[in-house]
Formats: sequence, structure tokens, C-alpha cells
Amino acid sequence: MGVVGAGQMGAGIAQLAAVNGVDVWLYDLDSEALTKAQKSISNNIQRLLTKGQISQATSVDAVKRLRCSSRLEDLHSVDIVVEAIVESEQVKKSLFANLDKIVKSSAILASNTSSISITRLASATSRPSQVIGMHFMNPPPIMKLVEIIRGADTSEDAYRATKCLAERFGKTVICSQDYSGFIVNRILMPMINEAFHTLYTGVATKEDIDTGMKLGTNHPMGPLELADFIGLDVCLSIMNVLQAGLGDDKYAPCPLLVQYVDAGRLGKKRGVGVYDYCNAAAKTGG
Ligand code: NAI
Repeated sequence: MGVVGAGQMGAGIAQLAAVNGVDVWLYDLDSEALTKAQKSISNNIQRLLTKGQISQATSVDAVKRLRCSSRLEDLHSVDIVVEAIVESEQVKKSLFANLDKIVKSSAILASNTSSISITRLASATSRPSQVIGMHFMNPPPIMKLVEIIRGADTSEDAYRATKCLAERFGKTVICSQDYSGFIVNRILMPMINEAFHTLYTGVATKEDIDTGMKLGTNHPMGPLELADFIGLDVCLSIMNVLQAGLGDDKYAPCPLLVQYVDAGRLGKKRGVGVYDYCNAAAKTGG
């Protein structure tokens, strides 16, 4: 397997593969991201071992199965690539066009995109029947769901092989047709956006909005906290895709969400988003 993009999602997907006995190449154009990912995967494998969730033999095997590279050509022999790079259609299309030239013709090209059309990504390749959405939830090693998205031309064989891989990773699979936001983000992101509107219009504090949704609807995390965890840039990209793809202004991103992203307040990964994680006790981020 190849995983492209060693950020929070790609690292988690590569870890899942290695721990479940799949040889994996993890690629990123940023060598710092690769080093960070490799360190975090090793620490996580060690933690799984300490907690007794995997055996010593599995942990040693998993470390051996993971290889990191900043040369895309190293992925030439894989059977499936899962792409987890920045949520931009243009950048993903260009990567898919490159992968199409590098990986063998029988390989599946899967995208972990949260919202971008699989059919349009497939159009950048010469193998649209082998292009599919394989959408893991964050963090991939922990969340039980994989949403599989069938593009207009995705073959039954590609669907079955991808489902089989997700099940090997211990995941429950749901299947979505290729419409903006698929199932989970079509429902989740408008809720997060509405939470931003609630904050923006001064209805309540960020803490009360999150507590309201946690205790009022039994969600494990409040929507603003969850947005910080996902990444505000990712949330904004998804709202833009929903608005463009579903053609309705109800999906327009809240100006406060846009402003936070403009200010580089991207959430937990940057130390500040709606909340301030560098100064967590003060929680001055709103
Ligand atoms: P991230 O920002 O943590 O990581 C993205 C990585 O991709 C970075 O390491 C960056 O260096 C690398 N990258 C960017 N352009 C590249 C290219 N052309 N070639 C190779 N590497 C490149 O992003 P994150 O959160 O891991 O998201 C990745 C994808 O997963 C996005 O499509 C996102 O929508 C999707 N996703 C994100 C979830 C989340 O909760 N953050 C949940 C489910 C899906």
C-alpha cells in the first residue's frame, strides 16, 4: 500500500496498515512532515504494545513494514494508494495524474478526501474504474468508520477490494454516491458552520456552545472543539465544496471561520483555533 501525505490523517492510515500486516510506503513532499509522522507512528505502536493491545511480535513487524519516502516513484509497485494531502481539487488532480503514470495499471487510486468529487479526481487519470473514495475518520487508528465513495465509473472490483482492506483494518464500511460532502460531512459540516454563526453573532460563548451540544445532544465533543481537532482550514474547504457542489447559500462558510483561517488559526495542529492550546488553562482563543 502507498499513503500520500504524512499529516494527521496520512500518518494514522499508514499506522493502521503497518499494524495490520500490510507493507506501506508513506510519502510526503515535506521531509519534516515525514520525520514527524514516523516518530508519532513509532510512539503510537509502542503505546499499543504497553497497553497490551498488540503483541511484541506485531509491534516489531509493524515497524519493519513502514517505509517513508520523499520520492513518489518509490510507490511504483503498490496495489493501492490512499491519498491524504491538502483538501484542494487542483492539487489532488495533479497528484492523481502523476500517480497514474507511476503505479502499475492494476493498482487502485483511493482518496481520503472529505468532500471533493471522486469522479473529477478520476478524470485526471487513465483508470477511472480504479479510482475510489476511502474516507477515514480522524484519528484513523481509533475511529471505527470508513466511508467508501463510488465515483461515476468506479468498478465493483475496486469497491470490493477497498471494502475488504477497510475491514482488514477492523473498520465498519458505509457506502456513498459521489455527491459533495458524501454522507458524514454533508451532515456534520453545516452543524459546525452553524456553531461558528452562533459564536459570531454573540448568541453564546464558545464554551457554552460546546457544552450545550455535548450535554444536550450527547455528542462526545462540542462542534467548535471538533472543528479545532479536524482543522479549521479543512472545515472551510469542505464548506466551500458543499456550497459550490450543492449550489445553495445555506452552505456559505461563516465569516468568523474564514477569518480564523486567514489569521492562521487552523486549530489544534497549529496550537490555536477557536481555543488556545498553547495556553490551555487560559483558553483565550475566542
Ligand atoms: P494535514 O495538513 O495534516 O496533512 C497534509 C499533508 O499533505 C502535509 O504533510 C503536506 O506536507 C502534505 N502534502 C500537501 N500537498 C502534497 C503533495 N502535493 N504531495 C505530497 N504531500 C503533500 O491534513 P490532514 O488533516 O491530514 O488532511 C488530509 C486529507 O484528509 C484532506 O483531504 C482532508 O480533507 C482529509 N480528511 C481530514 C480529516 C481531518 O479530520 N483532518 C478527516 C478525514 C479526511
